[in-house]
Amino acid sequence: MDKIKNSKILITGGAGFIGSNLADALIEDNEIVIVDDLSMGKIENLPQSTHLHFFEHSITDEEFMNRLLLNWKFDYIFLLAAVASVADTIVRPIETHEVNQNANLSILEIIRVNQLPVKKILFASSAAVYGNMPELPKREESNVDPQSPYAIDKYATERFTINYGKLYGIPTVATRFFNVYGPKQNPNSPYSGVLSLISNAIKTDGMFSVFGDGEQTRDFVYINDVIQALNLLMLSDQTLFQVYNVATSKVTSLNQVINNFEAISGKKLKVKYVSDRLGDIKNSYADISKIRSVGYKPQISILEGLRKYWDFLVDENEGNLK
Ligand code: NAD
Ligand code: UD1
Repeated sequence: MDKIKNSKILITGGAGFIGSNLADALIEDNEIVIVDDLSMGKIENLPQSTHLHFFEHSITDEEFMNRLLLNWKFDYIFLLAAVASVADTIVRPIETHEVNQNANLSILEIIRVNQLPVKKILFASSAAVYGNMPELPKREESNVDPQSPYAIDKYATERFTINYGKLYGIPTVATRFFNVYGPKQNPNSPYSGVLSLISNAIKTDGMFSVFGDGEQTRDFVYINDVIQALNLLMLSDQTLFQVYNVATSKVTSLNQVINNFEAISGKKLKVKYVSDRLGDIKNSYADISKIRSVGYKPQISILEGLRKYWDFLVDENEGNLK
């Protein structure tokens, strides 16, 4: 696999799920700086290494970000810090806008004003930008219909990232992640990713609430495939000023995922069905031909991914669950 090497890398939100897995993958061959306020991320997620420099800080602190960017002159910047829950942004639209949009815009502005020599900046946008537009699978050229403050901020910031690139000659790229899952996704908020909540409920014999009838569909993509995509998009010249779906192009309903997880874990999940969640998307899956043209090939099926995820959770619990 093509991997970034011998570089100074900034990962905002790097103590979180995707960022910490990315740090694990890149730490051996690079210097990595992580800025995370630990609102969802955890120190324990981070690799132990002299190559890792961690700052517990909010990306909304412009003065701090200014100093950091000027001191380090990063080669690659992954903008992953966000309040990643759609539902949470519906409860806290203004506060989350500061993080999900304004702080990222301000980082781009610091890079522009100081003409910092970055090789590429990647912004993590989301499949949520497509909203409930009927076209399936979602193509990058499909109409967007962002429904929630989360999706609106992701779409606007994605556009800022791409167009700052074009207007001011800063190398940028953006990803629209679909539903990423795997080790280190934090299950401790009611707004956490659904697979972390399901696995946690299975582990602890807790109750899991399905919003709606469970027939909503998602394109669940395992974290290792996302790491593959992130490396390719950063390293390829072809990706400049482009936005890419990152997914598997396979569609799975919530009910199917629950059945699969029960089969893999050998445990029964306690489920109750409650009303639909406000702002929820009904069906979502991706066309991934654009990112395939850069060399991306998803390797891990949903069954394989759930098995790997479950094995990780069992190991984490020192085998007590087997
Ligand atoms: P996550 O919540 O695990 O990671 C986000 C990290 O950002 C957390 O560690 C959190 O503590 C940190 N953070 C939040 N506010 C911050 C602030 N003000 N300053 C500094 N750090 C802050 O979520 P994730 O799943 O790893 O998502 C990473 C990125 O990918 C996010 O931008 C998210 O919106 C995007 N994304 C994720 C998915 C998915 O399915 N997981 C899908 C689409 C897009
Ligand atoms: C997720 C990501 C979001 C990303 C988007 C891209 C998280 C927290 N959210 O949003 O960052 O941009 O994918 O597609 O990682 N559900 C239940 N019960 C629960 C929780 C969820 O039934 O307790 C349902 C939801 O109603 C939804 C589905 O499961 O239909 C997925 O929910 P969730 O994991 O929160 O993801 P998205 O809203 O798709």
